[in-house]
Amino acid sequence: MSTKEKLIAALKESRGNWISGELLSERLAVSRAAVSKQVKRLKDEGYAIESAPRKGYLFTEESDLLLPEEIRQGLESKVFGRNEIAYHGELDSTNTLAKELATKGAPEGTVVIAEGQSRGRGRKRRSWFSHEGGGIFVSMILRPDVPLTDAPKFTLLTAVALAETLIAHAGVDVVIKWPNDILCKGRKLAGILTEMSMEMDAVDHMVVGLGINVNIEEDVFPGELSEIATSLYMETGTKLSRVELLRRFLERFEKFYFLMEEEGFDPVIRRWRELTDVLGREVTVDLINKRITGKVVDIDENGILIVEDDRGEGHRIFSGDISYSGRKE
Ligand code: BTN
Repeated sequence: MSTKEKLIAALKESRGNWISGELLSERLAVSRAAVSKQVKRLKDEGYAIESAPRKGYLFTEESDLLLPEEIRQGLESKVFGRNEIAYHGELDSTNTLAKELATKGAPEGTVVIAEGQSRGRGRKRRSWFSHEGGGIFVSMILRPDVPLTDAPKFTLLTAVALAETLIAHAGVDVVIKWPNDILCKGRKLAGILTEMSMEMDAVDHMVVGLGINVNIEEDVFPGELSEIATSLYMETGTKLSRVELLRRFLERFEKFYFLMEEEGFDPVIRRWRELTDVLGREVTVDLINKRITGKVVDIDENGILIVEDDRGEGHRIFSGDISYSGRKE
């Protein structure tokens, strides 16, 4: 444990009661000046700590800021969230910063978190509503040793890990809409943005970003989103710990990531099939230069969607936007 972690633990242990600088300095085996400096840093980061002469320090309330030390506490992953967690109150986009860090050589498992984003990005140059404090906006750096053709698998893997996390820890009923949407009762609850950098015909690194609508109240969504978006709070009526949710997601994501490394894509796509509502649906697919209407007949072993059009012709859809045009069979 670092001095900072020890200090957080000591303050939390005496939550609601004053603890003197002298006692803290003894417990942490550092000078009182060092204690005071660390406390100031914690306050700047957002921890609710009061200080008073002769009384010492008082840790008042548990915050739900996505602070690195909070996430690491009780985190059972080995790589994701174990390397650097770059935490910011506000960023333009966590994916943008993660890409910069990855280009400079940041290792696999590096995580970038922001409480709010001024230019949160979605797929197809859309923006992502990034209300400060209400959502989770996080990006992870991946360095898989795979050919370019394998890249789409990581979006599907992330969707599986995210859907499972939301079902298990938030108790909501969600489905995956190919390729990157997590829906609850037809409304968007979370999205995934995967960006890749390549070297020759292999992946150099990937940045996987996710946005989850957690504690957002209904009237906070802007007009155009209020009909199509939802949040965990809107679905459950309970404010959830974002720290806990992110911790559990990182663990589950890592489990699937290593499983795919060891056993290939099969176990992932098998689980994906169970979690999606896209198979058998009538859909409209918007590609760059054409639109296909038909039925989703399958997803292949590489995560490519197979759509059969009205004339019975099969189309392999690598990427694109789909909308449901009929009921599920
Ligand atoms: C989508 O549904 O189109 C994908 C949305 C992804 C949003 C997340 S929020 C964290 C990360 N940073 C971004 O700018 N985008 C992703």
